[in-house]
Amino acid sequence: MVASRADWDGQAADYDEAMRPFERHAFARARAWLCSRAHGDVLDVAAGTGANLPHYPPGCRVAMVDYSRPMLAHARDHDTRVRVALCQSDAHRLPFLDGSFDVAVCALSLTLLGRGPAFTEIRRVLRPGGHLLVLDHVHAGRHAWRPVREAGFRVADRRRLLLGLVRAVDLSF
Ligand SMILES: C[S@@+](CC[C@H](N)C(=O)[O-])C[C@H]1O[C@@H](n2cnc3c(N)ncnc32)[C@H](O)[C@@H]1O
Repeated sequence: MVASRADWDGQAADYDEAMRPFERHAFARARAWLCSRAHGDVLDVAAGTGANLPHYPPGCRVAMVDYSRPMLAHARDHDTRVRVALCQSDAHRLPFLDGSFDVAVCALSLTLLGRGPAFTEIRRVLRPGGHLLVLDHVHAGRHAWRPVREAGFRVADRRRLLLGLVRAVDLSF
């Protein structure tokens, strides 16, 4: 079943608590590797409650895009050393000019965003030489990467964690 925007609104209050064990044992290390590669103007797409925020290097300016206002509202709960702008918007129609960002980040949202033109939009708003950083888990499956490839992204580097159950992938175009 596909989660709707209303479903995400409804999960917002419990999301961080429900994810805590997975964060500790599976995702935190992958986020640290991935976000350490971010710099400059960063677009965090389907950013949710802001789990990536503690991992960005100082100096990054992060635009957090999510269509659920209640999810975004929790971004303020995180300690972070970066400048953050919250943007309630659909990832399939990003409200930014072409070439606005150095890096885009998509964490745990590969299959959700692959259902529309989000990755083409992400490529549009990246500057030449920009990177897309993806945190993915095995549940997503190989077919989930098709929209990313079709948008023109190619793998530049990757890390597999927890015997390959969790993947952190750095892509360029
Ligand atoms: C599984 S959560 C991931 C949140 C965060 N990236 C993380 O790593 O914890 C998926 C998020 O995607 C958002 N989302 C789903 N479809 C979206 C869309 N079309 N545009 C913007 N946000 C979307 C949901 O509101 C939710 O916050």
